[in-house]
Amino acid sequence: MKDVIVALDFENKAKALSFLDLFKDEKPFVKIGMELFYSEGPDIVREIKARGHKIFLDLKLHDIPNTVKSAMSVLKGLDVDMTNLHAGGGSEMMKAALEGLTREDGTRPLLIAVTQLTSTSEELMHNDLLIEKPLKEVVMHYAKTAKESGLDGVVCSPLEAGEVHAACGKNFLTVTPGVRFADGEKGDQVRVTTPARARELGSDYIVMGRPITRAEDPVKAFRRAVSEFSGK
Ligand code: C5P
Repeated sequence: MKDVIVALDFENKAKALSFLDLFKDEKPFVKIGMELFYSEGPDIVREIKARGHKIFLDLKLHDIPNTVKSAMSVLKGLDVDMTNLHAGGGSEMMKAALEGLTREDGTRPLLIAVTQLTSTSEELMHNDLLIEKPLKEVVMHYAKTAKESGLDGVVCSPLEAGEVHAACGKNFLTVTPGVRFADGEKGDQVRVTTPARARELGSDYIVMGRPITRAEDPVKAFRRAVSEFSGK
């Protein structure tokens, strides 16, 4: 636990692999999202896994329980280390997902829930989704439902990590994007924290994309993230 996950937000395999080729001495934990997965298919997961990386497959499943169970059952064959779904699919869907993901020997990848996307504002929730409660309350309720359904954690802002741990226990994982170096660009992320601050706030994994992938020296940026996040 306590690891830096690099978001491999590249449009194709050639770009993703040439980025990974820069790393000679370490094998970063990487996040493969929809863009790369949909452009290259499951082989990209197998190939990166075979290179020795841990993989967070970020496909955010959300469908009827039976369909999610079947899809997770396919994903378990890809041998990823972490994957996710939308808590908004409900507890039955989350429990079905866990069943689908569990291998015959009882092991399974970590399963993490997305609560409300960070792009969802309270206004959107009220007007488009007809959810009247405050956003914070909804996020915490979804986190608790994910925990009660047996999931391992949630994706959230580092700023929410403490509250999630207080409500769901310290072993319930917080996987937190929105992390930037103190002297770096924020890009389109609004509420950001540094790797060191994310550690202090209790994040278990930080997800960093552009501050590493678009750095002049990505290996140096990755090492800086690891060192700040680990506090060493
Ligand atoms: O480049 P950057 O560090 O902003 O990348 C963050 C990664 O985390 C992206 O892949 C983005 O899609 C993902 N993410 C996020 N905020 C969320 C959920 C996922 O930034 N709430």
